[in-house]
Amino acid sequence: MITRSLLLIGSNELKRKNIETHQLDSEIILANLVKVSREQLLLDDHKNVTQDVYKKFKKNILLRSKLKPVAQIINKKEFWSTNFLVGKDTLIPRPETELMVEAILKIFKGKTINFLDVGTGSGCILLSLLKELKNSKGTGIDISPKSINVCKTNIDKLRLFNRARVKCVDFENFNNEKFDLIVSNPPYIPSRELANLSPEIRNFEPMQALNGGIDGLDLIAKVIYKTEELLKVNGILAIEIHIDQYRKASQLLVKNNFRIIEKVKDFKTNIRCILGTKVK
Ligand SMILES: C[S@@+](CC[C@H](N)C(=O)[O-])C[C@H]1O[C@@H](n2cnc3c(N)ncnc32)[C@H](O)[C@@H]1O
Repeated sequence: MITRSLLLIGSNELKRKNIETHQLDSEIILANLVKVSREQLLLDDHKNVTQDVYKKFKKNILLRSKLKPVAQIINKKEFWSTNFLVGKDTLIPRPETELMVEAILKIFKGKTINFLDVGTGSGCILLSLLKELKNSKGTGIDISPKSINVCKTNIDKLRLFNRARVKCVDFENFNNEKFDLIVSNPPYIPSRELANLSPEIRNFEPMQALNGGIDGLDLIAKVIYKTEELLKVNGILAIEIHIDQYRKASQLLVKNNFRIIEKVKDFKTNIRCILGTKVK
């Protein structure tokens, strides 16, 4: 069968299951199987596929029709122009997190720093910052051993083993040297809202990466309290927050002697990241 016909079969099957991104998903899945870019696949859509690709494609489309995220089917997600290995044990990197990376780089571009990424998951923040801040060092910690393994694979893939360290530890028990920057995209969904998440997220992404406790601020508050021990004077704290957490998170920061230096808005103009510096 030729790729064009197969793409149509996949797309129609996903459309039948009301998946809005049916065409795109079908293309990404097939491009991954035949190991070409999506653009290349579409340019040259008269190629015959092997029986093996045909079978794998049907299997993958079935998984997608059961709402498994595309990134978990193809085991990768692009973040800051790099493909990161992801799976069922790590959060799929999100575009709003790239906005936080961008804001951090505006401050630190060209500087050499030592930073900490709390809840590193796939390592997308840790490794994207290290790629840009050439002589800097970064430590990623995560409570999930499986996430740490995924992060280690990404470190190897990007050959950043000389500058990246990882540790499987609960942030509460983490003590180390002081850092110039602490960054975190913590789990921030309030527990009562977990049931309202789309099934694509609720049934497939790790709860430990989503559940932020009663008000969603559990880890955010711990990070803010503990910066006393871990952040250098004039160091920067950057945290990603949920759409309606700015008021509470900023109050916590101010109460703990932070001056807010930047608020980063997402594409819908919600404040999704706060950057602060310790004033005393
Ligand atoms: C929202 S995910 C972020 C993953 C990744 N940094 C990203 O932006 O895609 C939050 C991560 O925090 C980790 N985590 C949750 N509680 C933690 C804790 N107490 N100490 C360390 N890591 C924790 C989770 O396992 C998860 O990998």
